[in-house]
Amino acid sequence: MKPHTEIYFAPLQGFTDYVYRNFYAETFDGVEKFFTPFLRVEGGEVRRKDAVDLEMTANRSITVPQIIANCSEDVDILAQLVLNKGFEHCDINFGCPFPQQTHKMRGAGILPHPDKVAEVLKAAAKYPELKFSVKMRLGNTDKTECLAIVDILNDAPLSFVTVHPRISKQMYSGAIDMAMFQELTSKINHPTVYNGDIATVDDIHRITSQFPNIKAVMIGRGLLANPCLAQDYMADGNSGFDVKIYMNFINNLLHGYLAQYDNSEYMALDKMKTFWAYPPLGVNKKHVKDIQKSRTISEFVMKVAVAVNKL
Ligand SMILES: Cc1cc2nc3c(=O)[nH]c(=O)nc-3n(C[C@H](O)[C@H](O)[C@H](O)COP(=O)(O)O)c2cc1C
Repeated sequence: MKPHTEIYFAPLQGFTDYVYRNFYAETFDGVEKFFTPFLRVEGGEVRRKDAVDLEMTANRSITVPQIIANCSEDVDILAQLVLNKGFEHCDINFGCPFPQQTHKMRGAGILPHPDKVAEVLKAAAKYPELKFSVKMRLGNTDKTECLAIVDILNDAPLSFVTVHPRISKQMYSGAIDMAMFQELTSKINHPTVYNGDIATVDDIHRITSQFPNIKAVMIGRGLLANPCLAQDYMADGNSGFDVKIYMNFINNLLHGYLAQYDNSEYMALDKMKTFWAYPPLGVNKKHVKDIQKSRTISEFVMKVAVAVNKL
């Protein structure tokens, strides 16, 4: 039997914080690495929230803090934080499409500036005790921007490069450019990882058959919607949805967020509702709306149980 391709949990700002990642890893199998939402420097310092997220991470050997930077000074500050908190691996974000970042030549905004890409990777190379990887788009405004930085990527000591085959204005929807993914990854000498629009076990098989040489597939929204997806794939299942395990996970998350928000039911409930931006496949829209209108935690849990019961 063909060996399984590794599954990585994509970084999702606002979703995959330490509470989510810790409870996810406790509940489900199948995910090899978890990426944190990107850490950034603001006013010359690490954001407090970002430092706390690393501090509270339970599984440091399988967690990859992600950083966003456009200069060697910021790489220094962030790489030292990652090392000091006991992590072995750090991912560099060359893919964020949001104008707040791209306008500062950060995220995908750095892609049209090979000199800046080289500066960031050179700064990273000063920390050989830390493994580095890159997560990127094809380009900021043009899909060929990625080709102009291939040599710089190849010269850097990277563990792998993850490619989300879109450009910034597409954000997270619209056509994925598989031909360009193929072209770019054939030129990158490092192992490569595919990311984008994987929602089912069949999607994983489709990508791994089309690109048999990839090191891993990175999944974001598909795992939020169906947290069993990675373990189903590893167990050769087919996107089954285990209601009991799911409800247990929901209850654990609720307790985690209650603890994080000093027992504020209002804040914990608000947080839990945000996950319903990515409901499990097959839940009807009426149930989703109804869940988002819940006024108490017990009402929320009851409505979620009803919505997922028949999946
Ligand atoms: C709400 C949201 C937050 C995201 N935050 C980050 C982030 O912090 N760092 C990053 O590299 N990508 C981020 N992404 C992009 C995802 O990691 C991933 O590349 C994208 O969702 C496509 O993969 P998917 O189709 O499997 O979700 C974010 C995406 C979404 C929808």
